[in-house]
Amino acid sequence: MQELELKSVIKVCQMEELTSDERHIVEMAIEATNRSYAPYSKFHVGAAVKLDNGVELAGSNQENAAYPSGLCAERTALFYAGAQYPEIGVSLLAIAARGTDGELTEEPTGPCGSCRQVIIESETRAGHPIRILLYGRKYVYVIEGIRPLMPLTFSEF
Ligand code: THU
Repeated sequence: MQELELKSVIKVCQMEELTSDERHIVEMAIEATNRSYAPYSKFHVGAAVKLDNGVELAGSNQENAAYPSGLCAERTALFYAGAQYPEIGVSLLAIAARGTDGELTEEPTGPCGSCRQVIIESETRAGHPIRILLYGRKYVYVIEGIRPLMPLTFSEF
């Protein structure tokens, strides 16, 4: 039997180390946490995307009394982008969250498995990796494409 080691490399940055474009999209994600509808979990997530044509859009988690009917912030933003600009790829995706104490989380918040799967498809549609920025008060993770977060992905393409 052979063992295969799967390695992921991500960057750990301070806000000041980001480019102004990146900082702005992170700030949009932070702002979007204030528009989240999360009366059940009280976990308010914001996501923002920058498209290849420069357009910036944000989304937030939208919950529902029938829990599975709600949607995560990342998919809200990515599906909104796909619905508005079907021909344009996504270049940046930022995620931020406020915990039940109302404060932005100290540690970066990562996308759930379903959102990761959707990000894969957004990369396929864009034809290039999406730079992912996960905000935490302590540091921001900068990840070049979804692959480091999702090895051995499923794709029919
Ligand atoms: N949530 C997101 O918005 N993004 C994720 O990637 C994980 C979880 C939302 C779903 C739900 O509204 C709340 O966070 C608690 O799980």
